[in-house]
Amino acid sequence: MHEPPIAVASRLGQVRYDIRGPLSRRAHELERDGQAILRLHIGNPGLFGFRVPQHLRDAIAEHLPRSEAYCHQQGLVEAREAIAALHRRNGVAASAEQVFIGNGVSELIDLSLRALLDEGDEVLVPAPDYPLWTAATRLNGGVPVHYPCPATREHLPDAAEIEALVTPRTRALVIINPNNPTGAVYPRELLLALVDIARRHRLVLLGDEIYDSVLYDGASHTPLAPLAADVPCISYGGLSKVHLACGYRVGWLVLSGAPARTGELLRALDLLASLRLCSNVTAQWAIRPALEGPNEIGRLTAPGGRLHAARAAICDAVGRSAFLRVVAPHGALYAFPSVDPQRLPDFDDARFALDLLEAERILLVPGSSFNIAARNHFRVTLLPEPAVLEDAFARLERQLERCAEQAARRVA
Ligand SMILES: Cc1ncc(COP(=O)(O)O)c(C=O)c1O
Repeated sequence: MHEPPIAVASRLGQVRYDIRGPLSRRAHELERDGQAILRLHIGNPGLFGFRVPQHLRDAIAEHLPRSEAYCHQQGLVEAREAIAALHRRNGVAASAEQVFIGNGVSELIDLSLRALLDEGDEVLVPAPDYPLWTAATRLNGGVPVHYPCPATREHLPDAAEIEALVTPRTRALVIINPNNPTGAVYPRELLLALVDIARRHRLVLLGDEIYDSVLYDGASHTPLAPLAADVPCISYGGLSKVHLACGYRVGWLVLSGAPARTGELLRALDLLASLRLCSNVTAQWAIRPALEGPNEIGRLTAPGGRLHAARAAICDAVGRSAFLRVVAPHGALYAFPSVDPQRLPDFDDARFALDLLEAERILLVPGSSFNIAARNHFRVTLLPEPAVLEDAFARLERQLERCAEQAARRVA
């Protein structure tokens, strides 16, 4: 007898994470058939030869015998003290009790939205966004309301536009700074305007700062929590990017703001953290040495560093392209170029990404995967060697020329 397939939760119908979606599955198939794929789709430093700083590895090795029991649901107190001290250096009166350590920022994004949202509550999310924010909002019963950060405005949001989207159901404002996928780094005045909106409309600020030290060309990052002061604010950071340790799965959040307003949220976070017992203890030993040791990412993003050269290679290649434009990223690990609509009016980012994979063996992420309506962007990571990126952009240009030829044939 034919049994029907098992039904899955209907709310998953609304949830996407294309960075590891169908294109990535097709790349796996091609690799299984012996093809070499250039993976530009993911910000995973370990895949591109970057190594975790030795002092972080040493700390884990040394503390392995002390990693065998569950720890406190919020994380090892030594690690939380180091995170709180970092926030105090930025001018926020934080203690270890306000810090939660998770299996990556990913787990904590989900956990904090679960703590905050009732069915139908709205969350203001940038577009383009790191798509976990939209997905986790939906998974927790919320409604993502996207505020635009277009290339025409250097991918910065407009405070008045955001405020016009606030409704009685709006609970939180997500700020990803430095931004993934655009590389925008938000000026202090803009952040102050966003804090003001949160204060007046009683929103919780959710500041995803996982790239806070990945900065280029003299850009400086302004942490959100000190500007937020008494406004409830959750700041997220971690080891994945700044400390090149994606595989360790270490992230943290710090809840700040007037204690009279944040007490219940703190207790909700504590309950949800308790339900998953604690995060991976072994990797938490790397937190204190990471925060107190040398800033290795700064060497890579400064002139002469590999990430600096990779960014220049992409900007130069786009400058030479007959089709592409880009707002040079000021931070994070990505560029978000667009195709000139004058040159290719019918360009479709998803179609292009698939054709590029099949023809040139390059995997990138279509821009529409980041919750924007425009179909003329794509995201690439800055992590490969600059020469590899130069070659990749030559192949990309070849594919764009094929698109132009096909478009010309359609017209003829
Ligand atoms: C903006 C942003 N936030 C959060 C994450 C999640 O990072 P992790 O779970 O590795 O800490 C990422 C990963 O790429 C990201 O780009």
